[in-house]
Amino acid sequence: MWVYQEQVDGKNLTDIINEKHENVKYLKGKTFTNNVVADPDIMSAVKGATLLIFVTPHQFLKFDALQTAELGPDCKAISLIKGIEFEEGGPRLISGIIKDSMGGMDTSVLMGANVANEVAADEFCESTVGFATEGAGAVWQKLFDCPTFRVGKIKDVAGVELCGALKNVVALGAGFCDGLGYGGNTKAAIIRIGLKETAKFARLFFKGIQDDTFMESCGLADLVTTCFGGRNRACAEAFAKGEGTWDDIEKSKLNGQKLQGTITAKDVMTVLKHKKLEAQFPLFARIYEIAFEGKDPKSIVEL
Ligand code: 13P
Repeated sequence: MWVYQEQVDGKNLTDIINEKHENVKYLKGKTFTNNVVADPDIMSAVKGATLLIFVTPHQFLKFDALQTAELGPDCKAISLIKGIEFEEGGPRLISGIIKDSMGGMDTSVLMGANVANEVAADEFCESTVGFATEGAGAVWQKLFDCPTFRVGKIKDVAGVELCGALKNVVALGAGFCDGLGYGGNTKAAIIRIGLKETAKFARLFFKGIQDDTFMESCGLADLVTTCFGGRNRACAEAFAKGEGTWDDIEKSKLNGQKLQGTITAKDVMTVLKHKKLEAQFPLFARIYEIAFEGKDPKSIVEL
């Protein structure tokens, strides 16, 4: 496991992980099995790999180093990164960036209702592999599936990945509702509208989106868990209560982790503005206005 090196209490984080089998900074109190070895050198971490799992916040992806890595034969990639990027006129999938940066490598995605500390505590949950080739889908399902982490699969990389990325934006809306003290009915309405806008966005920009994707763990289930228990929700609740700027809240609540929903909300708005589509996505547009244009959080229910 490649780990970005940092100092914790004057020691290398990788040394602490290898001694205690615990990531004391980002996943405190959860024990890794002994076969997980933290390595600060990306080249040695991936040497000989036949399966590469990308799970850094996407701001930290390091392709320059990987270009010359000595990988094993027929190496495949999977992305667990719930983000998105935009280039001139359109959304760009992180899995697409990985694929292109890794010489066209077969790249799948794994997304689902998987709040990290609950997964690490072995609480039952489900997840979804989105694959491009049947062989890769079968390999990744076999690798990850176990009695407490049930993995389904569907041939829809873009649909699965967009569900994972866009639910972070909807979660901001859910957090605004919590900050304002609104009840379950209101949050359920935000979730429903959010799922519809997610499906519409996916179908507008990508081909081959499957209807079934939205009923898999990556769709409805991830949206629900994130809108009740996620970090984006928690930070948006604090924002609606006036507890500071996004930077202040991220620093005080996330212990060095990065919020994805705010970046994704900006990126989504860039493309909607560019295509003059804001009116067709009233929830995404309103969440952006509240988060970045000073609009009153109460306007979340004036769609
Ligand atoms: P947060 O990043 O909002 O914690 O979302 C967690 C998640 O992706 C659950 O599947």
